[in-house]
Amino acid sequence: MHPMLNVAVKAARRAGNVILRASNNLDAVRVEKKKHNDFVSEVDHAAEAAILDVILEAYPKHAILAEESGAQRLGESEYEWIIDPIDGTTNFIHGHPQFAISIALAHKGQIQQAVVYDPGRNDLFTASRGVGAFLNDRRIRVSRRSFMNECVISTGFPVSDQSYVDTYLAMLKDVLGKTAGVRREGAASLDLCNVACGRVDGFWELNLKPWDIAAGSLIVQEAGGIVTDLRGEQTWLDSGDIVAANPKVLAQLLHLLAPHVK
Ligand code: IPD
Ligand code: CA
Ligand code: CA
Ligand code: CA
Repeated sequence: MHPMLNVAVKAARRAGNVILRASNNLDAVRVEKKKHNDFVSEVDHAAEAAILDVILEAYPKHAILAEESGAQRLGESEYEWIIDPIDGTTNFIHGHPQFAISIALAHKGQIQQAVVYDPGRNDLFTASRGVGAFLNDRRIRVSRRSFMNECVISTGFPVSDQSYVDTYLAMLKDVLGKTAGVRREGAASLDLCNVACGRVDGFWELNLKPWDIAAGSLIVQEAGGIVTDLRGEQTWLDSGDIVAANPKVLAQLLHLLAPHVK
């Protein structure tokens, strides 16, 4: 394993312990509201601190972009760690077991290493650019389905920014009508990993943040999937609008979404 990926895995496991310990007594966890339908708990902060301890001990000069550290770039370096300490906070505070730690390392803006760790299932997804994607050390691949009417597609609802709702519902209606089903699980990093290991055939969501998708997208790409924005282009990390799927259905999913792209 690449030494930088190894550090990311160590950090993710450390955070996983913090989160699992806290999940034994959720009633005691303090939660704050950042804005409408956007929450952060003391466990998000503690998990992020645990991750930063591990990463900065190994690489004190690297830059950091982490959700709960004010969501701004800290430090200057060609290397940047993009961190979501709990992706799926709403699930976590409800005791709904679908959340993960997401850690990516970019070098000169290109994602090179990725970890998404689901501590509840002890599922560790990893990828290094050019080396492949793995779930608990076993190689993973995207699904082979090619007919949209056989595909299960996952998505996320725009719950905190109401300005997306109408566009989103129009997209959802068209995808629902043409596929075998739609899933909304509530942790974008894991949604992407589910595409990577073929548990779903595709995924789309609007207005995400870099820490939601940086790690999961490399895992999809290294598993043989394709990641684009809603126009089929490569702006997804900046725009936060993302579509990921196996190569046989990506174009079909883009086609269903296209009439609603502004
Ligand atoms: C959220 C999750 C969710 C997505 C939201 C994200 P958070 O991340 O990824 O699936 O629909 O848009 O904000 O806030 O729980 O880290
Ligand atoms: Ca959040
Ligand atoms: Ca997130
Ligand atoms: Ca988060």
